[in-house]
Order: sequence, then C-alpha cells, then structure tokens
Amino acid sequence: MADDPEEKEGPVRALDEDDIALLKTYGLGPYATRIKAREKDLQDVAKRVNEISGLKESDTGLAPPSRWDLVSDKQAMQEEQPLQVARCTKIINPGTDEAKYVINVKQIAKFVVALGDKVAPTDIEEGMRVGVDRNKYQIQIPLPPKIDASVTMMTVEEKPDVTYSDIGGCKEQIERMREVVELPMLHPEKFVALGIDPPKGVLCYGPPGTGKTLLARAVANRTDACFIRVIGSELVQKYVGEGARMVRELFQMARSKRACVVFFDEVDAIGGARSDDSGGGDNEVQRTMLEIVNQLDGFDSRGNIKVLMATNRPDTLDPALMRPGRLDRKVEFGLPDLESRAQIFSIHTRTMNCEREIRFELLARLCPNSTGADIRSVCTEAGMFAIRARRKTVTEKDFLDAVNKVIKGYQKFSATPKYMVYN
Ligand SMILES: Nc1ncnc2c1ncn2[C@@H]1O[C@H](COP(=O)(O)OP(=O)(O)OP(=O)(O)O)[C@@H](O)[C@H]1O
Ligand SMILES: [Mg+2]
Repeated sequence: MADDPEEKEGPVRALDEDDIALLKTYGLGPYATRIKAREKDLQDVAKRVNEISGLKESDTGLAPPSRWDLVSDKQAMQEEQPLQVARCTKIINPGTDEAKYVINVKQIAKFVVALGDKVAPTDIEEGMRVGVDRNKYQIQIPLPPKIDASVTMMTVEEKPDVTYSDIGGCKEQIERMREVVELPMLHPEKFVALGIDPPKGVLCYGPPGTGKTLLARAVANRTDACFIRVIGSELVQKYVGEGARMVRELFQMARSKRACVVFFDEVDAIGGARSDDSGGGDNEVQRTMLEIVNQLDGFDSRGNIKVLMATNRPDTLDPALMRPGRLDRKVEFGLPDLESRAQIFSIHTRTMNCEREIRFELLARLCPNSTGADIRSVCTEAGMFAIRARRKTVTEKDFLDAVNKVIKGYQKFSATPKYMVYN
C-alpha cells in the first residue's frame, strides 16, 4: 500500500480543458480532422447532385425499413400466381366483342373463358398454347408452340468461321447454291415478276471430302437467316413416330423464323429408298423420310425456308425425295481439277509456316483424282515431316514426301473409285 503511486502524488487532479483537447488528438494523424471535414463535404455534394438529378431511392437500393409496405407487397405477390398451361381449342364468335375461348387444360377439363386484361384478342389463335390463371382460367398470356429441346439445339447460333474464299474451286457449285439460297431472300420481287416459285431446295452430292459440308458451313456464315443443321442420324429415334415428330417440330420452328435455312447432312441415313421387304426397323426410318417429303411439299405454307441436303450416295435416296418440286436443284461436287487443286493447296497452306515459292502447280499435278480432304491431309503430313526434322518451316521437299505418303500410300482407303462404281 505504501508504494501506491496515487498515494504519493497526493489528491487526484481533475483534467482541465487543455488536457482533454490533448488527449483527443491521441491516435489521430496530423490531417485526420481536415480529411474528415472534406469527406463530409463530398457526401453533401453527392447528395445535392442526386437531389438535383432526381435520383430516387428505388434506383439506389432499398428504402429504409420504416417505409416498407409489406402488406401490399404480399398482395402483389399473390396476384402473380403461376399460370397453368392450356390449349385454346376453339374461338366462339371470333372478331366480336363477346368472343369466348374454349380451352383445354390437360387432365382437368375444358372451359369456356374470356381473355385476361393484358391480352389482345388478335394475339390468340385457335390451336395455340396459352397460359391461364388458376382461379377463373382466363387467358393471361399466349405461349409459343412447344418444341423439343433437342430440336431447338440444332440451330446454329455461332457462325462457323468458313467463308466462300476458303473453298478451292467449286466456283460453279457455289454460284448455283447461292442462286437458290440468297437470291430469293434478297430479291423476291424478281420471282414474283416472272411468276415462278423460287426453288425450294438443293441436293449436294459427290464423293466424300469434296467440300459439301464445307460449302454449307460457308452458306451459314454468309446468311443472316437462321441456320438449322440436322444430321440425318439424329432423326433416327428409338420410338415409333418420334423421328417424324422431330421433323414436324423442326419445320414448325423454321416457319416461326423470318428466314431460315435447314441443312440435312448425310441424308442417306433417313432418305433411303423404300423397299418391299418388311424389315421392321426400317419402317420407322421411312416414316421419318415421308414426313420430310410431306413438309417439303408444304401443305402448310413454308415461308422463307430453304432446304439443303448433302449425301455421298445419291443412288440410294428415295426418288420421291428428289423429284423436282421438292429438291429442284441437284449440285454435283466433282473431284477438283488441276487449277482447283492448286487453289486448295494454297488455301490450306495459308496459315502454315512454309518456304516461299512452293510450286503448288506441281504438287497439284502430282495428286490426280484426289479430293480436297486428301490435299488437306497432304498439307498436314508435310507439316509432320518438318516437325520430325526439327525445322520451323515446311519445305517443298516435305510436300513431295507427303504427296508420296498420302496419295500413293493411302490409295487403298480412297473412296473415290467406289463412288464412281455406285453412281
Ligand atoms: N474445295 C475445297 N476447298 C478447300 N478445302 C476442301 C475442299 N473440299 C474439301 N476440303 C477439305 O476437306 C475437308 C472435308 O470436307 P467436307 O467435310 O466438306 O467433305 P464432305 O463433302 O462433306 O464429305 P462427306 O460426304 O464424307 O461428308 C474440309 O474440312 C476441308 O478442309
Ligand atoms: Mg459431309
């Protein structure tokens, strides 16, 4: 107790004004007060700016809790009930004020109802899917037709990066394809003036690897129209009638677009000629093909839909599919000639790091009867030779070796001679 410091110092002295002011500055930087003042200033200015520019609290976030209106919020939530899907089967007295709508709610019942407040009578047609509320079953919203997700997925959203300049040769084919696909979309009046229907579709045929799929991709790149790509085998389904339904939904989706190009690749998967022997499974494939025929005939008006098909076995296709009026144009993709081959060589070496002055003419001469795919393979092999020799550039000798390897060595696998026999 004796060495307690307070005892020694005597009575405690109260802090006076100066001491308090001094204590208040502890832990503060030299500019702290001035910074604080400046910050408050800035806040005031921001507030004034917001007031002048008319910013409401609903733009910046929540209102303070004192101004929340939970009751009316709850009511608003209740009014927006989930709708139920129904089909409008019939319209009674269409066009008049007392029009009534017969709707069919699946597995519940049929009702005769009126329109909701937010729907115009012109929006609703017979046979449409509609959303109805759960109390009075009034039609609240028109719905788009139901289309299978697997069909929707076929739309090509991203444009492929192939352009017409990436196709060597095939000048005539490109020309004829563009005539069918682009001309009617860009200049429909020409056809109207002449009084003819524009051609509906094109069949591309030719040996494998001659650029059929490539050209279709270039078309997709060029058109602004919606591009739907279907691979023949995708339409072969497990259950009876599925394939035909997919084709129907496909064309339904296509019809809903302003302009649309449908491309059936490898169409021989479904378009095979009908035969007499009743080999169970094939029947289903034929029904799918017949649905395509039906859609091509356009019992429903087809709008601006163009159909492209590609195959390398045109001899197996059903004649009904190919008759004029359905696929009017048939474009053959032959083997590229000398000039085209040289062009294809230069296209595929464009991105390669090659020696200068490679004689593409000579290389083209060395690969007779080869397709675009062969030539591409030659270019890749030439690159491989360069890699093996640890060089950074590809020389002409690499190309010559590659020609030897690909054209001579792989002759056994070439599909061209077989194609010649079939057709
Ligand atoms: N005319 C060409 N110009 C440039 N490259 C070509 C040409 N023809 C083919 N090719 C090359 O060959 C590859 C395969 O061609 P593509 O896929 O068009 O063959 P296809 O004709 O559709 O064959 P398949 O009938 O077997 O489907 C292309 O990716 C391209 O690199
Ligand atoms: Mg192909």
